Amino acid sequence: MSTSEWPELTSETQEFWDQNAAFWDEYMREGNHFHYQLIRPAAERLLAIKPGEVVLDVACGNGNFSRRLATLGAEVVAIDFSKTFVTQAKKRTSDQADRITYRVIDATDRTQLLGLGEGHFDAVVCNQAFMDMATLQPLFAALSSILKLQGRFVFTLAHPCFQSPGAIKMVEEEDCDGEIVVRRSVKISTYITPTTYRGIGIKGQPVPTRYFHRPLSQLFQSCFDAGFVIDGIEEPVFESKPNEKRSLSWTNFGEIPPILVARTRRMDKKRGRNDYR
Ligand SMILES: C[S@@+](CC[C@H](N)C(=O)[O-])C[C@H]1O[C@@H](n2cnc3c(N)ncnc32)[C@H](O)[C@@H]1O
Repeated sequence: MSTSEWPELTSETQEFWDQNAAFWDEYMREGNHFHYQLIRPAAERLLAIKPGEVVLDVACGNGNFSRRLATLGAEVVAIDFSKTFVTQAKKRTSDQADRITYRVIDATDRTQLLGLGEGHFDAVVCNQAFMDMATLQPLFAALSSILKLQGRFVFTLAHPCFQSPGAIKMVEEEDCDGEIVVRRSVKISTYITPTTYRGIGIKGQPVPTRYFHRPLSQLFQSCFDAGFVIDGIEEPVFESKPNEKRSLSWTNFGEIPPILVARTRRMDKKRGRNDYR
């Protein structure tokens, strides 16, 4: 099986994100339509934050979700490996400043992550960043120590089945017995082989970033290897009216989920995976 880990590419990826951070921050501000309509509702359902819980936001970017977590009553530690993103995140944080601690930490560096404290977190979240991370194993390995036993780790990412490298979005029109039928689909030609490639998240960003594609089997294997089980999964789709001006916008693909949301739980490895009730 091909590897889905490319640790040697972390520093290059970090440079790309530092160059893109100010542009992304200005575009994202407190969240875009993906966040408001897909990411937040699903992530918040699966996280089910209780006031006072200590939550880690991994790859927080400009901290938009960290601030949301703080308004839900969480005590938040928010980390990102881009100094520029962390600076922007701090600038945007005023009301919730006493509930959020931002730190520059590389989520592919197990030692840095372990410094956050054993059994410190009730929950961990990582939004839209697995596909930006050169390796996932150090993160899962560290979480199996810094997350409380039974603690939940919720992640959202570009859906590996429908946003794999070379995916082509298509719109077709058919005259069906006098009725014009519009059909939207995604053509996938590569999926099972883990791949890294350059791409653009937001049109106009200073430099293309680097993405890391992993099929579901490898993605979830990283969870299982670290003693996590999956106990929640969502595939949210846009339910808004079709955007006629931007025919290929994801908002028009109501049958195809552009993101995948999963909740995993840290289990006691000594008890064995089948002991989970
Ligand atoms: C698409 S942005 C998502 C940001 C934020 N979570 C959100 O939803 O708005 C991806 C983020 O992952 C961060 N990132 C990528 N690899 C990382 C790593 N190894 N350690 C920490 N942050 C990382 C980038 O700096 C960037 O902020």
